[in-house]
Amino acid sequence: MISTDSPFARVCAAPVLGVGLGIDVFDTRPDFRKLIKHHRAGFDFLEVYTRGNWADVDKPFAQIPRDVPRTYHHEGLDPVGPALCPRPPIDGCMKNQKLLAPPWTVEELAVRHIDGRYTDFFFPAILTPESLRATVANVRQLHALLPGPLLPENAPYEFVVGDVHLCEWMTQLSHQADCGLVLDLGHLWSYQLCMGHGDDPLHGVEKLDLSRVIEVHLAGARVEKYHGGRIYRDLHGAGPIPAPSLDLLRELLPRMENLKAVTIEVEDATEDRAVAQCAQVRQVVQQHRPQWLLGKA
Ligand SMILES: [Fe+2]
Repeated sequence: MISTDSPFARVCAAPVLGVGLGIDVFDTRPDFRKLIKHHRAGFDFLEVYTRGNWADVDKPFAQIPRDVPRTYHHEGLDPVGPALCPRPPIDGCMKNQKLLAPPWTVEELAVRHIDGRYTDFFFPAILTPESLRATVANVRQLHALLPGPLLPENAPYEFVVGDVHLCEWMTQLSHQADCGLVLDLGHLWSYQLCMGHGDDPLHGVEKLDLSRVIEVHLAGARVEKYHGGRIYRDLHGAGPIPAPSLDLLRELLPRMENLKAVTIEVEDATEDRAVAQCAQVRQVVQQHRPQWLLGKA
């Protein structure tokens, strides 16, 4: 049974946000101010990314009008690490949550800091029972400290360590930490590519409790050939959304009963390209789950 004030219950109680854009407040391409001023009809909400910065955000956050719905994408909690992260990124997340008042905060299931140094590489979750136990403990502790609920997101994989299927690992995390999830469809495909299932992006998806997926991510990417295999590289707004990501969206959309948001991550896109990708995804949503856009199902 789900407790009424659990992190999962709190995100389930949030309204449907629709189809939105993931932007970095420190980017000039796209410039979120121009998106708001000239393209407001082109997106339903913004997912705000700050590169984990909490010191320099007051000014850009103040430039997001209150009537623009927003979610927040933090970085630095490193929830798949062996122990809880240091206090500063937790305090930073707390500050940004208070300023933005998002219904939830996204955090990658990856480690990006080693001994306090930023790696600029996603060390994705090790897929073992031991790492699951540590991650559940971390997410539970974070929920005890933070004012707003977290949505852990599957990170991109360039290699896989561990024998547990990613979908099973995420299901267990969501149940044991009683939280919702972000399912990044490109990142799911990156895992399938590593496992030799690149031509079957849905392989093993029945192991994922789709009712836990509150938000979906899509992004531009390229796929590189590497030693006979293929590796997924996120390009965000600097490239087209790969066909397998859109195929996954078509397949899974009707099956995610608690879905609240579909986000296209568009860092590096022009404003025009950002809203064009949003329109492309909105069309898929309209075809496969039209009622959802009306906030009804
Ligand atoms: Fe993502």
